[in-house]
Amino acid sequence: MDSSLNSTRLQETEAEILSLLDVLSDKVDLERKLGVDYVQLAPIDTHNERKTDELSKSEKTKELSKLEKQVKKCTKCELCKDRTNVVFGVGDPYSDLMFVGEAPGYYEDVQGEPFVGRAGQLLAKIIESIGLKREEVYIANILKCRPPENRNPNAREIVLCTPHLIKQIEIIRPMVICALGTFAAQTLLDTKEAIGKLRGKFFEYQGTKFLPTYHPAYLLRNPNDKKKVWSDIKKVRDYLKK
Ligand code: URA
Repeated sequence: MDSSLNSTRLQETEAEILSLLDVLSDKVDLERKLGVDYVQLAPIDTHNERKTDELSKSEKTKELSKLEKQVKKCTKCELCKDRTNVVFGVGDPYSDLMFVGEAPGYYEDVQGEPFVGRAGQLLAKIIESIGLKREEVYIANILKCRPPENRNPNAREIVLCTPHLIKQIEIIRPMVICALGTFAAQTLLDTKEAIGKLRGKFFEYQGTKFLPTYHPAYLLRNPNDKKKVWSDIKKVRDYLKK
């Protein structure tokens, strides 16, 4: 096919997606104004147990590596152009606990692994504070490719990339997901509520306990809030101990 025709079609499809996103966002805004809240703001007390139809550890590893191969080829958004590596996720696929961050930064892009920079070192301390090691949990991000200059993910990137994360969660099926920062919490809870309001409370994401807390990079800039994260993560530990 003529390449200029191809690129016109691509531009048209992109414009269509963007206008759909606008419509969706207007719809959500309108529903919120009408009092529809997507986030269950009350704490949940149902005890979340591992499902009986869950995959074995080797099946999870196999499914994740199949998914990783697909995600590594992803070219759905512009971020694929400048990436050094797709940062898929790392850790124990059979862990009860999964952390979800925002997007890879410089070091993550270079090494192809999430949370390996300064924020990652702090995340390791947070994990160790509840008696676990980094390798004993699973860590992934909302975006699998680094946004230029570490800018915030935009709506289009989030919409196009989140299905990869959702598939990861479906395979891993942890008992608790800990969302690190605004983007992870707001995306998976489908809310615009501030992280300061969401943190430290249990919500539910598709039947899985979900606890948002501050992002370690935020803590590096605001060390006074570290005690809040330490208290949030203890709630996760206590829940997992039950
Ligand atoms: N910040 C994130 O949200 N994710 C990473 O992988 C690194 C820094």
